[in-house]
Formats: sequence, structure tokens, C-alpha cells
Amino acid sequence: MDSQKVKINNNPIVLQNLVIMRDKNTCSHKLRIAARKITGCLMYEAAKNLPLAPVEVETPMQTFTTKTIDPDINIIISPILRAGLIFTDEAADILPQACIRHIGMYRDEEKLKPVWYYNKVALEAENPEKYFVYITDPMLATGNSLIEAIKLYEQKGIPVKNISVVCIIAAPEGIENIQKHYPDIQIIAAALDKGLNEKGYILPGMGDAGDRMFNT
Ligand code: URA
Repeated sequence: MDSQKVKINNNPIVLQNLVIMRDKNTCSHKLRIAARKITGCLMYEAAKNLPLAPVEVETPMQTFTTKTIDPDINIIISPILRAGLIFTDEAADILPQACIRHIGMYRDEEKLKPVWYYNKVALEAENPEKYFVYITDPMLATGNSLIEAIKLYEQKGIPVKNISVVCIIAAPEGIENIQKHYPDIQIIAAALDKGLNEKGYILPGMGDAGDRMFNT
């Protein structure tokens, strides 16, 4: 694993909320609140790759020049349905200029392969190098759906170094799989767990993230 490209955020706020998320007795309401808090921490980390531009600001005291996120870039937050939705509100509050591009894949439980069911990303990017994409999925398990999602944006001409994967719990097998295809991808996670079981679930993990978050 190229650990330079993988950032595991072990901020105490992340750790505390991760315990809440993992606990099998946590109800979906509390789990969603914990996920929002973790999302905030992860998005601050992920956004460190955004380019800056000078800006003039007039305070009540004087005018001065400082830096802000380059207004000429396009930011995409791309949740993989359905569990990736859990990031959306918090991430969009943190980066209000972002557009949200939902993509839908379910996992073929036998082959552990992703099957597309929703993709309306009709993006004809004129300056693809000015796009920055955050693909969100709480569980980086086999990595197969994330590879499909990265491929989607890469095929639009967006440089892989501008694409980030933001997840809550990652398995080493999934990270290795993604890095085999996309060594330059930035991966942000709250935890790196032991590995996958024979059904592709992360151990110790948190079980089925979508079911637990949406109380199904
Ligand atoms: N998806 C989940 O929801 N949980 C896992 O452990 C792996 C994939």
C-alpha cells in the first residue's frame, strides 16, 4: 500500500464518533449524527488538495489581499448510492460551491462486483483539469465500486490526482485494489480495519452501513 496517498484521520473527534458508529447497539438516528461529525473532519482533510487564488477582502478596518479556494475550479461531491448519501449534507455545507453528482451501484453479492443502476453524469468538461471530485462511500471494502466511479470521472478527462475517495472505514484489500489501478488517487478515511470476510464485509467494520444508517 502506498501510504503517502492514504490519509487515516485519527482526530479524537473522529475516533469518538467512530466508536458510536461501530457499536451494534447504536440506533440509526445517532449513527447518522456521528457520521456527519466524521464527514466534517474528513472533508477538511480532503479539501487540502484544492488550489487557492488571491482575493481582496474589505474588513471593517481595512482592505487587504488574502487567499481563498480558487473560484475558477469546479468541485464535485459524488455520493455512491445509497450509503454514500450520508456524507452529502455535511460535505455540501462545507463546500457550498460544489455540485452533487449522485451515482448508483449495487453489489452483486455472489461475484462481489458492482452493478450500475444510476449514472446521469453527463459532464462535458471544457477544462477537465479544473475539476476536483470527492467520491463518497462510507465503506471501502473490495474497492470495486470506487474503481468504477473513478473510471467514470477519469473518462471525462479529469486528472486522477484531482479525484479523491472519501470513506469512513477502509479495508487494506480495497485500498490495494484501487491503488493497483490508480496509484495517484487520494484516499481519506477515518479508519483502516483488519480486512474482509468471505462475503466482502469489513472486519471489525460496522456491518451493513446502508442498512444501519437508513434503518432498513
Ligand atoms: N459494505 C458495507 O456496508 N459494509 C461492509 O462491511 C462492506 C461493504
